[in-house]
Amino acid sequence: MPTKRLAQRSAASNSLETSLWELANFTPKQAEAWQALMDFDYVLYGGARGGGKSYLLRWAMLLYLEKIFRTTGIRNVKVAIFCEDYPTLKDRQITWIETEFPSWCGELKSTKADGLGFHLHPDLGAGVILLRNLDKPDKYKSSQWAAIAVDELTQNDYKIFGKLIGSKRWPGLGFTKFLGTTNPGGIGHLWVKDAWVDGTFQGHPELKKKADQFKFVPALLDDNPYLPPEYRADLELQEEKIKKAWLYGDWTVFEGQVFAEWNPELHTCKPFEVPDYWIRRRAVDWGYAKPWCTLWSATDPDTGRMYIYREAYGTGLTDQRQTQIIKQHSEGEEFKVSFGDPAMWQRKNLMGIVSSTADEYSKNGVKLTAGDNDRASGKRKVHRALANLPDGLPGLVIFEKCKNLIRTLPALPYDETRVEDVDRSAEDHAYDTLRYLLSDLAKPPDPGDNTAQLAWERKARAIAEHFK
Ligand SMILES: Nc1ncnc2c1ncn2[C@@H]1O[C@H](COP(=O)(O)OP(=O)(O)O)[C@@H](O)[C@H]1O
Ligand SMILES: [Mg+2]
Repeated sequence: MPTKRLAQRSAASNSLETSLWELANFTPKQAEAWQALMDFDYVLYGGARGGGKSYLLRWAMLLYLEKIFRTTGIRNVKVAIFCEDYPTLKDRQITWIETEFPSWCGELKSTKADGLGFHLHPDLGAGVILLRNLDKPDKYKSSQWAAIAVDELTQNDYKIFGKLIGSKRWPGLGFTKFLGTTNPGGIGHLWVKDAWVDGTFQGHPELKKKADQFKFVPALLDDNPYLPPEYRADLELQEEKIKKAWLYGDWTVFEGQVFAEWNPELHTCKPFEVPDYWIRRRAVDWGYAKPWCTLWSATDPDTGRMYIYREAYGTGLTDQRQTQIIKQHSEGEEFKVSFGDPAMWQRKNLMGIVSSTADEYSKNGVKLTAGDNDRASGKRKVHRALANLPDGLPGLVIFEKCKNLIRTLPALPYDETRVEDVDRSAEDHAYDTLRYLLSDLAKPPDPGDNTAQLAWERKARAIAEHFK
């Protein structure tokens, strides 16, 4: 752990603000992130390994509390730093705060009222930087913080973010802040990328009204001069894919990505007129509160290449509305088969009338066949479909307009416990629909442990462990 030369506060020293700022000693990128935090309410810093993210987080919170007291005079303000669990909080923050923060500016201690936190000196306004983990975010329901700082934000799903920002408020203060730091990858990869990196807010349109308050400050390994050169040398040895994410902060590839073979240049295409004689299929993944998805595919019988040429995606649609949409879009087209999520055949008793969603669909003129819901073979089929045909191009190509499938498929992470499966808590509705769509494809053989994909995954995981 590098030791920092800690300046002693003296009567002759510069103002507190200047001495804290000098002590923070931000790199130009970190300074840019700090400035962004002054100008925007939701700031994300990072993108690659070692960019000085965890460092920025704690020093930004210290400077922020000092600034609030200096500019408003409000005392006892609380901000909070979060990590996903206690061990990561201790590793990335607590031990560093102990050695880096000068004793004249406050004290790290545990109190009955506040738990563990760094308490600023009364001369600095007696604010507190609370140090918290996110094992049980519900316990923070009635809390309030003037700033929320989350380290490795993509380790958290959107629900946690929603819960935290419910507590982003402070009486008498006209502004409150959110600061996240992160690498690509993890359960929250998609929503974080959506909101800060791409700025599309597709998954969470409710954030759109605050779009002008979101700011991403990318930082690469090279932006941190304090790392030993061996660290970079170690990363340089990794294969291109890992380097892309870890060194260059490429958000299209990440650790734990299931469909790492995804290449938007090859797997997507501009829409074209699909010939009538191509073999068409449809598949439906049912949803109401969560998204409902339908995909339409057409296979070129000459090459065997399958194109996804249409998608419908939405929430809050009744069965009747869903079937209306499917029929409207399918007019004049013929389908070899239309698959549905097998759960759609579950019978429900509604005031004495026993029926299923599949019955409802059928009544409305959309006849479905139960799709194959074997998750392991379904995932292998998707891999096989994405792989190249003998002509050297992928067997599955998606029309650019199928935005949700294109957005969510490459962002799916592996499940941490069932390690060969897709994480079911990720946005997987278009993926599930794609699995159903491939139901009548012959089951690919179990690849055992020898496929390049699995070997790559194992390797990436081992390396990730090493760098934790
Ligand atoms: N401005 C800085 N001044 C001094 N050391 C820094 C600074 N920024 C980062 N470091 C050091 O660089 C190393 C990596 O920083 P860290 O914040 O842990 O990176 P990340 O969280 O991005 O992986 C740590 O040893 C940290 O103390
Ligand atoms: Mg870190």
